[in-house]
Amino acid sequence: MPSPTTKTHEDRELKATKNAKNDHPSGDKRFKVLDITMKRNQNRPDALIEVLHKAQEAFGYLEEDVLIYVARGLKLPLSKVYGVATFYHLFSLKPSGAHTCVVCLGTACYVKGGGALMEALDQYAHIKAGETTADGKMSLMTARCIGACGLAPAAVYDGKVAGKQTPESVIEGVKDWLT
Ligand code: FES
Repeated sequence: MPSPTTKTHEDRELKATKNAKNDHPSGDKRFKVLDITMKRNQNRPDALIEVLHKAQEAFGYLEEDVLIYVARGLKLPLSKVYGVATFYHLFSLKPSGAHTCVVCLGTACYVKGGGALMEALDQYAHIKAGETTADGKMSLMTARCIGACGLAPAAVYDGKVAGKQTPESVIEGVKDWLT
């Protein structure tokens, strides 16, 4: 079936987003995952929970920036998106640490040693997934695929994606935060 000929502003925006080199001003490719999920659901507001699920899988938690992006994409008030994100226990909002390290444990990263990255961080910072150090300096989160499988295993340091990580490099990545 051909798609409707009338292009809404939203359609154009989506197309522009799709064609743009980077999907989000930050250049973070994980927003593309959200675009695809929203588009697959024709940007329907009732896809909110599914989109938030995807967002949490891709980012490890739901930061304000992500909630705003979802609210815009689904044309929902931010308050509604916040309401849903805080109501369901399966969603975590931005962790409380001053810095956040997200380790990808999606299939590609897991088979290439994502688990060893978590172990190294656990031993170094004495925290497990979802926890924040006692001094509040760092939170450790996991994600299920951050869209950088070619660079597996990957981790994200305060929003910056880094590929080909090793137990040594993850410690290097968080060391300065904890001193
Ligand atoms: S599985 Fe880690 S980036 Fe895809």
